Amino acid sequence: MRRKLVAGNWKMNGGLAANAELLAGIKAGLDNPRCDIAVCVPSPYLSQCAKDVAGSAISLGAQDVSAQDSGAYTGETSAKMLLEFGCRYAIVGHSERRSYHGETDEAVAQKTVRAIANGVVPIVCVGETLSEREAGKTNDVVGRQVDAVLAAIGADGLGKIVIAYEPVWAIGTGKTATPEMAQEVHAEIRAKLVKLDAQAGEKVQILYGGSMKPDNAKALMSMADIDGGLIGGASLKAADFLAIIAAA
Ligand code: PGA
Repeated sequence: MRRKLVAGNWKMNGGLAANAELLAGIKAGLDNPRCDIAVCVPSPYLSQCAKDVAGSAISLGAQDVSAQDSGAYTGETSAKMLLEFGCRYAIVGHSERRSYHGETDEAVAQKTVRAIANGVVPIVCVGETLSEREAGKTNDVVGRQVDAVLAAIGADGLGKIVIAYEPVWAIGTGKTATPEMAQEVHAEIRAKLVKLDAQAGEKVQILYGGSMKPDNAKALMSMADIDGGLIGGASLKAADFLAIIAAA
């Protein structure tokens, strides 16, 4: 059995007071969780949140990581810097970064490599747009995105990544893939991982993301290859995030 991971993606939300209140609320409601838990917070708050989650079951994550280790890359944050703040995870290739910041499959693959090389676990996001789904291209698109990363990390990297399938049309829209729709894509991704390395491929956590909420989390996470969730909106309310953790 793969352990489940429930990871919050706060996106560009929060503030010193709101973060403290949210994390206090989550910590107060955690009752012997049986899954991995993470919050991926905006970079300026890594230091604050590192202190707030210390000693709890909550791991810290960032929302992006540079494909470079250091140097003249204005605005970038390296994996080494993230490590100094106790980051276990970094989201890589979120669809908002792919679409608003032009991140290519190649760039996402390089960021994944840098994260792994520095001991940060990348949560690699993949997913199709609505028009791609309607054109019957879901498996092609997701397959291409996954292949780019696998080609860069090789079988050795498999044990060091998390993948998140996030259909772009389901993110922040309240539309969720049905458990069966999501499972179909997760199974395709799993097949690729297992083809690269049978044992390691079976162990990779594949999360679902896209309007996962307390009322649909259990059904989604009970599918064979859905190993948790990457949660946007519902991770900003302690009660909702806790309910999803309980469902896992
Ligand atoms: P959502 O976001 O849960 O608000 O749809 C998920 C994500 O973008 O990671």
